[in-house]
Amino acid sequence: MMDLSGRRDGYFIIVMVMMFALIGMCVNGENNGDSVGAPMVKTEQQALYSAIQGFVGKWWNGSDLYPDPCGWTPIQGVSCDVFDGFWYVTELTIGQVHDNSLPCAQNLQFQPQLFKLQHLKSLSIFNCIISPKGPISIQSANWDSFSSTLESLEFRANPGLTGQIPTSFGNLKKLQSLVLIDNGLSGGLPASIGKLTQLKRLVLSGNLLTGKIPESYGYLSELLIMDLSRNSLSGSLPLTFGGLTSLLKFDLSKNHIEGEIPSEISNLKKLTLLDLSNNNISGGLTFASQEMSSLEELILSSNPTSGDLMSFNWQNVYGLMVLDLSNMGLTGVIPESILSLKNLRFLGLNNNKLSGNLSPKLGELRNLTAFYANGNNLTGELKFPREFYMKMGRRFGVRNNSNLCFPVGKSSSSVRPFGVKVCRD
Ligand SMILES: *[C@@H]1O[C@H](CO)[C@@H](O)[C@H](O)[C@H]1NC(C)=O
Ligand SMILES: *[C@@H]1O[C@H](CO)[C@@H](O)[C@H](O)[C@H]1NC(C)=O
Ligand SMILES: *[C@@H]1O[C@H](CO)[C@@H](O)[C@H](O)[C@H]1NC(C)=O
Ligand SMILES: *[C@@H]1O[C@H](CO)[C@@H](O)[C@H](O)[C@H]1NC(C)=O
Ligand SMILES: *[C@@H]1O[C@H](CO)[C@@H](O)[C@H](O)[C@H]1NC(C)=O
Repeated sequence: MMDLSGRRDGYFIIVMVMMFALIGMCVNGENNGDSVGAPMVKTEQQALYSAIQGFVGKWWNGSDLYPDPCGWTPIQGVSCDVFDGFWYVTELTIGQVHDNSLPCAQNLQFQPQLFKLQHLKSLSIFNCIISPKGPISIQSANWDSFSSTLESLEFRANPGLTGQIPTSFGNLKKLQSLVLIDNGLSGGLPASIGKLTQLKRLVLSGNLLTGKIPESYGYLSELLIMDLSRNSLSGSLPLTFGGLTSLLKFDLSKNHIEGEIPSEISNLKKLTLLDLSNNNISGGLTFASQEMSSLEELILSSNPTSGDLMSFNWQNVYGLMVLDLSNMGLTGVIPESILSLKNLRFLGLNNNKLSGNLSPKLGELRNLTAFYANGNNLTGELKFPREFYMKMGRRFGVRNNSNLCFPVGKSSSSVRPFGVKVCRD
């Protein structure tokens, strides 16, 4: 976000800037006590320059280009606020947010001065650590100096950022948002993060993280979003997760989580999204032991779950709009109890071992616009009204069910679903 373009447009601009600064000081002089006229502590200003220079390179001379960074020469990506009559930096965003923003240097470093910013609430490093000369990791030391100020910490799209998530992040006790997405971080999840009781957002997706999910994460009772997807996490879901009572979105897809889905999950009364797809979850479908009326999207595809659709209490998740249970080794019939999902838009059942007939009552789900049951063992005649096939089109997929057929009547051959043979009399 740092739009430092025109960095060396020379003396003229600097003179202009200084003139405006002088005018500003005169104007503000009459405005006693107004924050606009507040000065900046020298050490804070130097800390800001050094911190930025560490990321973008030695050539960047902050004091030259931005003599008054919280006032007349604002730096894009830097926000300030007044504390006790002085300006301090509250937000710092580094990296290529816009096309014209400044790229980070190849030999970048976290300057120790970064940690001297006394009132920093938000630090964001975006698309910055890309192809460093040597591996760059988040050093564990120093973060404690942000423990009573930092509310949001974000490292996003930094493939060159390697090493572990520092345990010391657990001391950032004001933290509400920890977002470490699409970096090269590895190692285990620090249990200390479970101490961050104010945390609302925990997003660690798209790294190389391994090991179990700490039980302590179940104590984050303020958490709204937990996204640990696209890592290599293993072990089972902690039973403590029933304590995540504020949670709205829970995404653990694309890991190696095994074991059953614990019925404690149905304690999460605000949950709208549960995505556990592409894991190694077994033990059948039984977890909805209580009503989960808030749940809108349930995505469990590509797990060796097995079991059947009859054992699940569909009335308990009646608000579902998206249900994807593809590739789970499910057996048995598609029960009519699934018709209690009146808001269903998407039903994915591809590549299971489902058998029996397909009830034409499925067509009574008014909002259903996509139904896929390719690659099962469904049998008999398809008996939907012509309008149903018209409405669904290619989003009605039932091919690779060798015993399923379509009765060709007077007017219906044009709506025969793709890959389904015609019934023989
Ligand atoms: C930045 O420029 C000022 C004034 O031109 C100079 O005194 C200072 O040494 C420079 N700082 C760096 C880090 O290059
Ligand atoms: C999946 O879990 C089972 C135990 O339930 C284990 O034997 C198997 O190795 C796991 N597979 C993978 C790919 O992790
Ligand atoms: C279908 O979708 C509409 C519009 O999104 C919504 O208002 C309605 O509640 C949904 N459910 C049913 C059963 O029509
Ligand atoms: C359908 O079956 C054929 C042959 O068994 C297989 O090649 C194809 O991938 C299957 N398609 C789907 C969508 O399962
Ligand atoms: C498919 O179902 C038929 C009868 O419903 C059964 O005879 C057959 O064994 C089943 N095939 C598979 C692969 O399960």
